Amino acid sequence: DQMRNIVQQMPKAELHIHIEGSLEPELIFALAQRNGVSLAYGSVDELRAAYAFSDLQSFLDIYYAGASVLLKEQDFYDMTMAYLARAHADHVRHAEIFFDPQTHTARGVPFETVIKGIWRACQDGPISATLIMCFLRHLSEDDAIATLEEALPFRDKIIGVGLDSSERGHPPEKFTRVFERCRQLGLHLVAHAGEEGPPAYIETALDVLNVERIDHGVRCLEDPELSARLAREQIALTVCPLSNVKLRVFGAMEEHNLVTLLDAGLVATVNSDDPAYFGGYMNANFLAVFDALPLSAAHARQLARNSFTASFLEPEAKRAFL
Ligand code: ADE
Ligand code: ZN
Repeated sequence: DQMRNIVQQMPKAELHIHIEGSLEPELIFALAQRNGVSLAYGSVDELRAAYAFSDLQSFLDIYYAGASVLLKEQDFYDMTMAYLARAHADHVRHAEIFFDPQTHTARGVPFETVIKGIWRACQDGPISATLIMCFLRHLSEDDAIATLEEALPFRDKIIGVGLDSSERGHPPEKFTRVFERCRQLGLHLVAHAGEEGPPAYIETALDVLNVERIDHGVRCLEDPELSARLAREQIALTVCPLSNVKLRVFGAMEEHNLVTLLDAGLVATVNSDDPAYFGGYMNANFLAVFDALPLSAAHARQLARNSFTASFLEPEAKRAFL
């Protein structure tokens, strides 16, 4: 109907996409063949059948296994170009793309191979795209600092840093020193917080790490004072609806709190997180929430506007989109 056409065709920005989470089963098998990597699954269908998750960790185990086929610069290029084409088809005009270098350097793939492949695709691709390097929070802060050192020769190819992987038991404050160094380098700062972890992790991400946006953040509503602050300070939340249902943050899309967040004046955005694993790219996420929740045309406009205002585009570039 009318509303579905509006949300699909409206220009939008994507602010929460893990590029390794865009690796489709077909490309995993093609790269495994190309690189002579053996997989624990016999076919695309068998692999896809394993995509039934009970929580964040059960997903991460399969997500890191899938990334094991990425070895050469061209592999990172092909993965990124496939994402950019999908995003373009969904009327995404700008994407701020997460990548997890430690997932690859731990397997002996040089940092340079990872960033050169991803960055070259961003230069060649059909939409505006910038890169945010994420630290894996299940690893140590020293490991994150070593990764930052490896990234320094490529400082001009990264607009910011983030924090992802297993949230519970790995609070933001574990990464205080490395985020302070990134801040001094003039990098933008974001962190996953309040996905599976408690609202207290959202507070320390803001007050200890000094992040500018919160990735997920949906558990903020458990703390009314924190929710009021996020609205007052207009701190964006990069919400990922299909992810939240697949990882059982919400029991069903009908139970998602996106409308409550928007109506409370929070700067919520809609994003795909790991689209190859969670059942779809940007428009699939938009259609899923518009089908399940009482969202209006005004909400659609607000979500599109929020995606650009919350982006790290320069003010002139933002104005051109708004
Ligand atoms: N890495 C990829 N997707 C993630 C998510 N939803 N939460 C934490 N780490 C991730
Ligand atoms: Zn994420």
